[in-house]
Formats: sequence, structure tokens, C-alpha cells
Amino acid sequence: MPVTASATVATNERLRRLIAEGKPILHLAFGEAGLPVPAAVIDALGRGASDNSYAPVAGSPAAREAAAGWFERRRLPCTPAQIVIAPGSKALLWALVSILPGDVVLPCPSWVSYAAQAAIAGKRVWSVPIAPDGAGGVPDPDALEETLSDAVAQGGEPGVLVLTLPDNPTGTVAPAGVVERVSEIARAHGLSVISDEIYRDLAHAPDEFRSPAEYFPESTYVTNGLSKSMALGGWRIGFVRLPPGEAGRATGAALLALASEVWTSAPAPMQHVTAYVLGEPPGIVEHIARSRRLHRAATLAVHDRLVSAGVSCRPPTGAFYLYPDLEPLRPALLEHGVDGADALADHLLERFGIGVLTGSAFGDDPGALRFRMATSLLYGDTVERRREALSAEDPTALPWIRESLDRLGAAFDALAS
Ligand SMILES: Cc1ncc(COP(=O)(O)O)c(C=O)c1O
Repeated sequence: MPVTASATVATNERLRRLIAEGKPILHLAFGEAGLPVPAAVIDALGRGASDNSYAPVAGSPAAREAAAGWFERRRLPCTPAQIVIAPGSKALLWALVSILPGDVVLPCPSWVSYAAQAAIAGKRVWSVPIAPDGAGGVPDPDALEETLSDAVAQGGEPGVLVLTLPDNPTGTVAPAGVVERVSEIARAHGLSVISDEIYRDLAHAPDEFRSPAEYFPESTYVTNGLSKSMALGGWRIGFVRLPPGEAGRATGAALLALASEVWTSAPAPMQHVTAYVLGEPPGIVEHIARSRRLHRAATLAVHDRLVSAGVSCRPPTGAFYLYPDLEPLRPALLEHGVDGADALADHLLERFGIGVLTGSAFGDDPGALRFRMATSLLYGDTVERRREALSAEDPTALPWIRESLDRLGAAFDALAS
């Protein structure tokens, strides 16, 4: 099947070109955590650098054991046999969507790659809206029931439900009650759940976080990685916790067979990093806590400016995203010929030099005035500035962050007037 480039990657490349040409672009379009690598993690990579053998397909024993312990500390019993380490969680998500039987059910909006991966796997997709006033990443439970019945009535075979906790694009975390209800619906309809928890450690309230694997342990596959909480996207480290029991074991065997033919293993040096980071020494715990605090401060500050300009936006509760809805500004936007999501993203770039990702990239209604902003690229354009942002008591008071926040505030106000 023909595959088009990921919208997020394509927009990032376009904005980087404009920046290279010297244009003053405020780049808020890319889901990069934008933070420096701690020295201890660079040391761990250095220690692994001489390891040039192929690693076991499932991952090194040390990395799998560390990952199992990491899940155990998050209320999810886990043995190393339930873990597979891979070059990024994206590869695991694609593999799981390919292996698990049935059509794919996605919340709308949802992360750009799920629908594309389902299409590559030759799967039919059923899209279910998130609750208008609730968190994203999970479908509205009533709408889910309805879509599942409609799908079956139309000859569909819904089999895999993909959830994102915390969510990209909305920057919100579904509360325990909703996660529980959606898990029960999945069980009642015989679905498997893939719970993409790549932003889990960046939930603003980590203690309140609940995984569907707590409610639906026999069929929930939890994926995670070090791209977001540790800002190690370029190192390509992902992992999955397979469910305990026969179904999990059978899927695990199929996953390892597929991995052995496609990527062989995660890079051996990265498995040393995985073992080190997932062992959670105090320096890593502190680093992630600071990252969480910084993302929280930045998303809340941008949210403030959006709301002051009359824009609707769910208050952020995790990750580093906002997903505003400019419907209240539609009349003002129409005067500029802006009548939908793509036109709005172009308008923000052309009129204000602000780069965002159109809501249509997330499967959202192209006529809606929604887009996603990633605040993580506000932290500074040098490693020193990003380091300072990470350790600042009030990062939003740092001059370069304040300047960007003011620029955003002025742009939102101008859009409204
Ligand atoms: C929701 C979500 N899942 C998965 C990924 C991919 O992560 P990885 O770097 O582990 O492949 C991303 C990255 O943007 C993401 O936002």
C-alpha cells in the first residue's frame, strides 16, 4: 500500500527549513521532549559502546529485568519473560497492531501514526470520538459501545483498541473511572487493548495514573519507552509489557518472530542504557521529576494565554501538549479566510511564524478549528538554556521562555480581535 510521510515528521522538516533560512519561527509542531541527556546516562551508553554483538531479540536479560521491576513499582506485576525491548515503541505498536486479530478501534483525535500503521497492516479502522469535555486518549465510553455495535452490524470485526495515556495530542490523562469503564467494555466485546503509555512518567499527577492493565490484565499490552520522559527519542528505546497468561505468551511468540525478521534486536549499547535508566537510580528519578515540572509549567502558562484570548482548551494534565479549539474565534478567523484546521495551521505560520500541527493530522474533523502545540520546543535553542529551564524554580520567568509566551499571547489576542 502507498504510505505517505508521517505528518509530524513532514511538518517538522518544513519548519526546520524555514528556521535554517533565518525565519523567526516559533516551532511548536514536533513531539520532541527537547531536554538534555544527563551525564550519567551518557556514561551508561559509553559503558555499553563496546558491546557490538547482536542482542537477544527480546532484549538483554538486564534490560528486561529492569523493565519488569519498573512496572512492578507501578502496580503492574511483571516478570522479565513478559518484556520485549525494541528500537522505539513505534516499532512495537506497529508489530502489535499487525499481530493482534481484528479491526483497529481508535479514539478521535489520536496520535498520527496509529491509523497509518493500521493501514500498513491492512486493517480496517473504527474511529470513536473522545468525550467533548473529558480527557483524550480514550474514546467516550458511550460512543465506544455504539461504534462497536455499528461496526459489527456493518460486517466489521473490531479486535484491537488503542489507548494513549497520557494523550498525544490533547495533553490530558483519562481518569481512573473512565479507564476502568473502557477496559470493561473492551473485555465485554472481546477486544485486546494496546495501552500506549509513552508519556506515563510525565503525567502531572503520577500517583493518580491508572493503566487499563490494572483493570483488564489478561489482554492489555502496555508499550512505553525512553523517548519522552528521558528525551531520548533519537536513541530509539522502546519496550512492551505483555499480558500474563496464554494469550500474552502466544502474542509474545509472534512478536519475537516478527522482530527477528524485521529489526533483530534493539541496539546492544541502548540496552545498557535501558537497564540503567529503568533501574531508577535517584538521579534519574530527580531528572524525570524536573522534566515533569517544566512541561507542566510551560503547558499551564500557554493554556492561560489561550483561555485569556477566549480560546477553548482542555487544561493540560500530562505530557507536553495542548489541543486548543478556536471555534469561539470562528467569525474573526473567517475574515481571514480561515475555515478549517489546515488553513488555521497555515495562517498561524504565515501571519505569526508559529508552527503547529493541524488537527486533521490526528484524524480530527478537517472543518474544526483545532491544532496541537508541543510546548517542549520553547525551552531554549541551546543545551545550556534547556539545562537552565530544567533546573529553574519558575521556568516561565526565564527571559527566552517569557518572550515566547508573550509572543504566543499576542498572537492569540490578535486572532481573537
Ligand atoms: C503517543 C506516542 N506514541 C508513540 C510514540 C513513538 O515513540 P518512540 O520514540 O518510542 O517510537 C510517540 C512519539 O511521538 C507518541 O507521541
